[in-house]
Amino acid sequence: MPPDFTDPLYADPDAYDVAYGWDSSAETAALVGHAAQRRGRPIRRALEIGCGPGRVLRELAALGLDAIGLDREPALLECAARRARECGLTVTTQLGDMRDFVLDAPVDFAICPLNGVCDLTGDGDLVRHFTAVAANLSPGGIYAIEMSFGPVEKQFLGAPAPWRRSQGDLSVEADWRLLDVDAETGLAGYEASLHIARAGAAPRRIVCRHVHRKWDQPQFYRAIADSPLVLAAMHAGDLTPLDPARRLTYADDNVFVFLQR
Ligand SMILES: C[S@@+](CC[C@H](N)C(=O)[O-])C[C@H]1O[C@@H](n2cnc3c(N)ncnc32)[C@H](O)[C@@H]1O
Repeated sequence: MPPDFTDPLYADPDAYDVAYGWDSSAETAALVGHAAQRRGRPIRRALEIGCGPGRVLRELAALGLDAIGLDREPALLECAARRARECGLTVTTQLGDMRDFVLDAPVDFAICPLNGVCDLTGDGDLVRHFTAVAANLSPGGIYAIEMSFGPVEKQFLGAPAPWRRSQGDLSVEADWRLLDVDAETGLAGYEASLHIARAGAAPRRIVCRHVHRKWDQPQFYRAIADSPLVLAAMHAGDLTPLDPARRLTYADDNVFVFLQR
């Protein structure tokens, strides 16, 4: 991993945090509650994988958990630590690759929000990732993954759906738009944009291409089977339980997959 790894989408971490920094605290609390129930013991130490500027990380810390954020982008980790301090919260950040990382102590709960696992596009990446997560989970520990499965149907191509969010002197219009998909590899190309208006500064526009691997459910389940983790449960985006045997696709939108060590 290059020490100065930089994805253009994160060139202005504060703007990303405003655009993607909605309040998911009730959802995070519910996920931690499900994890504690399934584990049969309270959750004390939690990890956000691919934490970015730390939306969920702050929510974990606000629940009183020992909260650690892992990311490969130093500027995002700096922003996550600063934003947590500004909110009066204590978090720990760690620079690392989600395919190969070692924490100084195991966590009881890990979460990878917002399709972060889909940044793992290479063959074998997912099994490496699950193996690394398992090595950093306490026995019975839970890993919650927020993701949508492939295949991606053509009807989802190209539709813009911009949203705007503001905080303090920052106002950001963001979009995340599917441009193309390779049915054979599951690689999906997205255009991500941030139009940033900051009081007293010239407007800034970030437009970049992102590639996600939209694993289909059987591929994803095979990677789980090849790892030390087991599939524990599946929840819909609104957290209602789903039958893990039910076939899910992109049309089902984001779901939460619970894996357990
Ligand atoms: C979709 S963003 C999600 C950010 C944040 N969790 C949120 O919910 O807003 C994915 C994050 O994963 C990080 N990431 C991508 N690949 C990674 C890798 N191999 N190792 C560590 N972090 C990675 C990116 O830098 C980015 O912060």
